Amino acid sequence: MRSFQTERWTVDKTEQSLTTHPHVVQASLWINKNEVVALPTETVYGLAGNARSDEAIARIFEAKGRPSDNPLIVHISDRKQLKGLVSSISPNAEKLMDAFWPGPLTIVLPKGEEVSGKVTAGLSTVAVRMPDHVVALAVIEASGVPLAAPSANLSGKPSPTTADHVYEDLKGRIPGIVDGGSTGVGVESTVVECTEDSVIILRPGGITLEELEKVAGVGNVTVDPGIENEKLAPKSPGMKYTHYAPDAPFVLVDGSPEFLQQLVDKERGAGRKIGILTTEERMDYYKADSVIPAGKRSNPETVAQHLYEALRAFNEAGVDKIFGEVFPKTGVGAAIMNRLEKSAGGHIINE
Ligand code: TXA
Ligand code: MG
Repeated sequence: MRSFQTERWTVDKTEQSLTTHPHVVQASLWINKNEVVALPTETVYGLAGNARSDEAIARIFEAKGRPSDNPLIVHISDRKQLKGLVSSISPNAEKLMDAFWPGPLTIVLPKGEEVSGKVTAGLSTVAVRMPDHVVALAVIEASGVPLAAPSANLSGKPSPTTADHVYEDLKGRIPGIVDGGSTGVGVESTVVECTEDSVIILRPGGITLEELEKVAGVGNVTVDPGIENEKLAPKSPGMKYTHYAPDAPFVLVDGSPEFLQQLVDKERGAGRKIGILTTEERMDYYKADSVIPAGKRSNPETVAQHLYEALRAFNEAGVDKIFGEVFPKTGVGAAIMNRLEKSAGGHIINE
């Protein structure tokens, strides 16, 4: 593994002409040498490399320690870049692009000639999205190539929502991080596959099922059963891996705050340091060694925004075990609960 003095390239996203910003140009020069750099998107930070270069793709997998059978999302700044990248676009997929791009929707399409099997992990399809972040779009434009980019965390860790998180995981492993501040959505893009008249969610994310239904029609959007049912193989290879895990064991609690507190008291009575993942509304209720809120329960978008940051904060706190609250699975709650269930390795205690 090569080593780097990882640089920090700050870019103020409110500036004009970002494509010629010295730090954007810096990042694109590395990309054009088939190296990989981290950059902000509206969901989480990505670890970006030239999607047309096998060398760059190998470096992405190496820096993250990612299993090679987990394909990458290709990021574009202009729909013209779809040429060569995909072999066809159905009218249904086109409709989704019109409605949600740029934005946190990744569409799985038949792979084109120019995409290496390294990007798609040998699949005949490729996942594509146009991020809704001026800095990400500027780096793609300045590089002049589509960028393959997984989340910029070490494989298995919570995804990064700040440049600090990326630095924590990847310092010394990549030449630089484009620092555009905190990302907005906080959870990754929704990954979908489309057939002629229906849309299948392969990974819940920033675009909700309800939003997709408004475009594709109520009843035309389904969720891949492989996501929740362990006996079925998920259609998206990444959904089978443990993910987003804090260092300490994490357990979800489906029950009242009183019930959760009793579980905590029992553990602390046995001499263990306990953390609680909660929300602003309930944080003053609990007593534990570390009580960390992820946003407001009354506003699930803020929970999504702060979820990964909260999971990472427990590592600093050095707790032995973490108990976390559950959320309704509607709207962005579906993505929040998918990440929490992964992060807990499916471990849930019901009251
Ligand atoms: O918001 C996001 O999507 C972020 C930012 C950086 O864009 N990226 C991201 O990438 O989350 P990653 O690599 O962490 O997750 C990509 C997911 C994985 O679950 C992978 O298996 C799935 O997309 N995927 C990629 N290509 C696929 C394909 N051809 N068919 C099915 N699933 C695919
Ligand atoms: Mg990821």
